[in-house]
Amino acid sequence: MYLSYYGHSCIFIEGSKRVLIDPFIPSGDTPPDCDIVCVTHGHADHLGETVSLKRKTVAPNELAKYLAAQGVPAEALNIGGGIEMNGVLITMTQAIHSSWIEDAGDGYYGGPAAGYIIRMDGVTIYHAGDTALFSDMKLIRDLYHPDVALLPIGDRFTMGPDEAMIAASYIGAPLVIPIHYNTWEKIAQDPELFRHAIEKTTDMHVAILAPGERMEIADANAHK
Ligand code: NI
Ligand code: MN
Repeated sequence: MYLSYYGHSCIFIEGSKRVLIDPFIPSGDTPPDCDIVCVTHGHADHLGETVSLKRKTVAPNELAKYLAAQGVPAEALNIGGGIEMNGVLITMTQAIHSSWIEDAGDGYYGGPAAGYIIRMDGVTIYHAGDTALFSDMKLIRDLYHPDVALLPIGDRFTMGPDEAMIAASYIGAPLVIPIHYNTWEKIAQDPELFRHAIEKTTDMHVAILAPGERMEIADANAHK
């Protein structure tokens, strides 16, 4: 399985199916073709190219209704629920954040913000979405045992590095990848400090991916 980072919160997972999460690509590059899109919430820096892609799209209920009205084949989930799509198990998790759909006029409320657990080909990936730290991340560990945790570290709109360190310890994934930082000055962070802090005090590994970088994710059994 391969995982690519397209910058900000956009992650592309290539296994037996291709899953694209939060298709906002800061560089303006065209998103890769995919089978399934997952959107964490309605903010424009996550919704991104979801409407133009028009792929099968998983989204929180209210956002799914908006997407369906735009002609996107949307599947509504709500927090705690899951769906199986072509062998990919997708579960929606809590995120402590807001959600607003910017559209003509004032826009409108996007429902709750979420994260995702993606299970495919024996690998479990947790994309936290935009969120504050919450202690029920321990339940995410107990329920799903993620192999990879994608955690925002930008601060201001989400967790910062200190909170994300605690999040990583709650989730317990052997591989942590920071997201949602350095897209703009307001969320500037040094991911190397985050990496050193985690790798010095735990046996977790932190992979810092440059936008456009692709890495192989070993089968879950390889590091358990
Ligand atoms: Ni947001
Ligand atoms: Mn965001």
